Amino acid sequence: MSYEELMLRAITKAEKFKYAAKPNPVVGAIIAKDGEIISEGYHEIYGENHAEINAIEAAKNHIGKKFKDFSDLTIISTLEPCSHVGKTGSCASFIAKSGFKRVIIGAIDPNPKVAGRGIKILNDNNIQVEYGLFQDLVEKQNKFFFYKHKNHKPYITVKIASSFDGKSHFDNETVLITNESSRNDVQTIRANHDAILTGGNTLRNDDPRMDARVNFYVNQPKKILLTSKAYNSKSSFFKDADVDIFKIKDLNKIIDSYRDTEICSILVEAGPKLANAFLKAGIVDELIIYTSEKKLGEKGINWFIEDNAIENYGFKLESSYKIEDDLKEIFKKNE
Ligand SMILES: NC(=O)c1ccc[n+]([C@@H]2O[C@H](COP(=O)([O-])OP(=O)(O)OC[C@H]3O[C@@H](n4cnc5c(N)ncnc54)[C@H](OP(=O)(O)O)[C@@H]3O)[C@@H](O)[C@H]2O)c1
Repeated sequence: MSYEELMLRAITKAEKFKYAAKPNPVVGAIIAKDGEIISEGYHEIYGENHAEINAIEAAKNHIGKKFKDFSDLTIISTLEPCSHVGKTGSCASFIAKSGFKRVIIGAIDPNPKVAGRGIKILNDNNIQVEYGLFQDLVEKQNKFFFYKHKNHKPYITVKIASSFDGKSHFDNETVLITNESSRNDVQTIRANHDAILTGGNTLRNDDPRMDARVNFYVNQPKKILLTSKAYNSKSSFFKDADVDIFKIKDLNKIIDSYRDTEICSILVEAGPKLANAFLKAGIVDELIIYTSEKKLGEKGINWFIEDNAIENYGFKLESSYKIEDDLKEIFKKNE
């Protein structure tokens, strides 16, 4: 296989681990000798071994059989090997210590803790390094991770469910707006984000769990609650969850506090007050609206007061799909 084919294989197979590895990026590493695969490794679960370590450990079983020593081999890694010392030491040092002479990298790690330092360790150990092979695909695959390091803020998605007449809820009564398939779709969106954020009123009125209920393994999102008032710390939202609570209302300050954390994406699932406050603050990157055919009528609380609010906030429709009788629309900022 060519290096291009090996890199594409590593990118494709790494995708399988995206919900388990997050908020870390997904990474794949393949060790090859003259185009033949000796071993493969992936960053499978957050907190566990990085891809390069798994690939090197798996290759050790073939020493003396498929190859003499690591200097015969090339390691192809979708992301720059890390330079910071984790549980297994830095991946770049581990590669150097194993004796490799050649490393091929997809994208340079945008995390300032690495950003070229991994390559420097390899170069300092006389390892030939090539990088940039399918960099665009690696960046696309790890969209939130690259976004966060480029923009110094997590990617923010606001998700709302709206009735046909533009309403969010009733004041004193719980109402399901969208159909079951739309609600299942939301579970995957939750699974994809690193954190879920809500407001005090939604917590007090709905007692939501807001975890990702999907039929595959997920490193569950962190939860974030914004409220200055009393709340029941035994509510479902807190069950088995790591929750950050903010009493302040300055959304820029709150979001900025995640700048140097691992959180690369936040899903806002709140009522009209908080959703509009986020949109007004200009820090939202994506707005997802599920609209049902149901009408809530005069007693329903409006999502937006003004006409054309979404366009006025600077969003344009990027895609729309039917989910049975509901409509799902994705809006992004005009660039
Ligand atoms: N249809 C849907 O998709 C959907 C989704 C979620 C919720 N809901 C409905 O929305 C209802 C609640 O909506 P809501 O608009 O009253 O409340 P909300 O948006 O859920 O929460 C508003 C609360 O967030 C806190 N907050 C912190 N910073 C803020 C800021 N900068 N601006 C505004 N609020 C800030 C405040 O908490 P404190 O006042 O506690 O300090 C505020 O009262 C629920 O009953 C639920 O049924 C609908």
